[in-house]
Amino acid sequence: MRTCLVTGGAGFIGSNFVRYTLSHYDDVRMVNLDALTYAANPASLDSVRDDPRYEFVHGNICDRALVRRIVDEYRPDYVVNFAAESHVDRSIENPAAFVETNVLGTISLLDAVRDAWASPRASFASTHRYLQVSTDEVYGSLSLDAPREKFHPDSPLDPRSPYSASKASADQFVNAYAETYGLPVNISRCSNNYGPYQHVEKFIPRQVTNLLNGGRGKLFGDGLNVRDWIHVEDHCSAIWAILTRGAPGRTYLVGADCERSNREVLTAILQAMGREPNDFDYVRDRPGHDRRYALDASATRAELGWEPAHRDFLAGLRETIAWYENNSSWWEGEKDKTEAWYEGVGKRGR
Ligand code: NAD
Ligand code: DAU
Repeated sequence: MRTCLVTGGAGFIGSNFVRYTLSHYDDVRMVNLDALTYAANPASLDSVRDDPRYEFVHGNICDRALVRRIVDEYRPDYVVNFAAESHVDRSIENPAAFVETNVLGTISLLDAVRDAWASPRASFASTHRYLQVSTDEVYGSLSLDAPREKFHPDSPLDPRSPYSASKASADQFVNAYAETYGLPVNISRCSNNYGPYQHVEKFIPRQVTNLLNGGRGKLFGDGLNVRDWIHVEDHCSAIWAILTRGAPGRTYLVGADCERSNREVLTAILQAMGREPNDFDYVRDRPGHDRRYALDASATRAELGWEPAHRDFLAGLRETIAWYENNSSWWEGEKDKTEAWYEGVGKRGR
């Protein structure tokens, strides 16, 4: 039996990863350490709660003593760090919270695994791996005028929001621990995920749930910002491939070649939900709004033999819409709070 410690496993991607791994691999035990912030939803893990291979620990990755205790107790073969403050708009309101979890929390995990894995052998086993789940946003923003340009693993880091600055900083520490202590690490940098169990603060769920509630879509700025979409299950399969087949020390990009402007995505959602094409409002733009992200994941595909399974974005979007339609009890509790928060951001002018 291999043991995988995931952090942030009650969030969007983490919960998909826990379910994905338990359903694909019989010989894996999953331990999930999550602080259950506003972004978590324990109901996302209902289907695995009674699985004897799944264990939940309620706690904060910044709690260094707790993290050490968990690592010592469970002796994980793999650690996958999903735990993060993940929303760019919230990072503009409160950058310090992002430094706390995303940077200091990562260092707390790195220290614990470095000490547990090196001891008592003084060298790391080839089966051990720490994977930092990072983001394409660390590379900054691409131009709409150079549509062939994409991010590559060695593109320069150029974070432009407090969120991406905290993620880039954490990545630098991960690489520093590999160089300094020889810790077997990987960094994955993925593009925008979509699919079931995503918090209603994020773009696609916000539009879908606004419309399900009889409201309208909300487009920041001119709506022409471009994101490169990937289904969350494909991100999960890529993480597993990196964890089990990746070369230690390497950074892997994860993407599915699916660039769409926000306007295009919203138009597709409106059409799929039988609404008028103009059932949306242009609203105040996000300060420092990155214009375009696009990833070249060809090296990851070639080296690991990984391929995304969800290649039809419109089909994936329709399934995602249906999931929110059929699971309103999962998101309703967060919806009003989230919209009140967005209203407050507008009033505060950030
Ligand atoms: P999310 O906000 O949905 O979930 C974050 C989870 O982390 C929540 O369960 C929360 O309770 C937990 N958490 C937060 N602070 C914690 C702490 N201090 N200690 C323990 N747990 C804590 O995030 P997500 O969208 O699932 O993203 C997961 C990871 O993937 C993040 O690191 C994010 O930067 C990265 N990422 C996300 C995307 C995307 O499109 N969503 C794309 C690329 C990379
Ligand atoms: O690229 C990966 C990143 O994708 C992850 O690292 C982040 O954790 C994740 O939140 C996401 O960041 P974005 O800022 O790209 O995602 P978000 O869903 O917040 O917004 C997507 C785009 O939609 C962005 O251009 C802003 C825009 N937007 C967002 C909302 C919530 C709107 O136009 N209207 C909205 O209501």
